[in-house]
Formats: sequence, C-alpha cells, structure tokens
Amino acid sequence: MRLYPPAWSVGRETTEPYELRGHTIPVGSQIMASQWIVHRDARWYPDPERFDPERWSPERAKDIPRYAYFPFGGGPRVCIGNHFAIMEATLLLAMIAQRFRVELLPGQKLELAPAVTLRQKGDGLLVRTNQRHPDPAGIG
Ligand code: HEM
Repeated sequence: MRLYPPAWSVGRETTEPYELRGHTIPVGSQIMASQWIVHRDARWYPDPERFDPERWSPERAKDIPRYAYFPFGGGPRVCIGNHFAIMEATLLLAMIAQRFRVELLPGQKLELAPAVTLRQKGDGLLVRTNQRHPDPAGIG
C-alpha cells in the first residue's frame, strides 16, 4: 500500500484561489496529490524503496506525518471502503500464504501501467503456487 499504492494519485479542481507556499493557485486549476511520490519521499521513509514493515512499529510510525501515507485519500472524501479493504486483504493474504508458497515464474518482471489504478502491464504477472505441507486448514 505504500510502495505500490493501487490509487497512485488523486486529483482536485480548485473552486477558489488557493495559497500554497507563496504561490497562488488560480480557480479552475487541476491539482494532483500523488501517493506514489509522497510514499517514496526519503524525508518520511529512509531508504524509501526498501520493503520494511518495521517502519510501522509504534516507535517508528509516530515519526511519520499523518498525510505522508494516504493510500485511501483523506479528508471528507476519504475512501469509504478503507477498513473493509484492509480487512479483506489481510485475511486473503494470511489464508493464501498459510497454504501456498508463491514464486514468480522465470523472466517475469514488474512493469507498471499507471491507469486509474496502478497495475501490471499486459496480462499480469505469472506465478507458480506450491502447496505447503502440512496444509494447516486441511482443505487442500
Ligand atoms: C485497496 C483498496 C482500495 C483503495 C486503495 C482505495 C482508494 C481510494 C481513494 C484514494 C479514494 C479517494 C479518492 C479521492 O480522494 O479522489 C477512494 C474513494 C472511495 N472509495 Fe476506495 N479504495 C479501495 C477500496 C474500496 C472499497 C472496497 C470500496 C467499497 C466497498 C471503496 C469505495 C470507495 C468510495 C465509495 C469512494 C468515494 C468516497 C467519496 O468520495 O465520498 N473503495 N478510494
């Protein structure tokens, strides 16, 4: 959600002039706030491209400003499905990872196509799933 945010940018149009760091943004301007860029800013995320879940430990997460992480947007139009999406993704990931090891097939590499949401170019990434033994749920 930080490094490959499905919503990689949100846009707004100004309905009144807006002052931002000494610049006046006129009415009717298109403004984009990009999760992709902010989530990779070394000011908030040292060694930003490293996958490091420990960044979110309580001791370290307190140094990350509120809007340095906004995969679901923020403010009045924050994603209504935020909590549902996180719960669903956590359950799916846990259930799949308990039962299978997942590995990329040779020659597969990540090539992003930033459309409305961020996705892999073409037909997706091909992976092989190998069932773990014993199968903890016993359902195969
Ligand atoms: C990983 C999954 C999801 C991501 C990353 C995501 C991301 C976002 C973002 C960034 C926005 C704000 C757009 C903006 O400010 O212009 C948004 C809005 C919204 N999302 Fe999600 N979303 C996800 C899942 C869901 C789900 C599961 C639902 C519904 C069950 C949902 C329903 C909505 C709705 C209705 C809005 C518009 C809210 C409004 O404008 O008042 N989203 N989402």
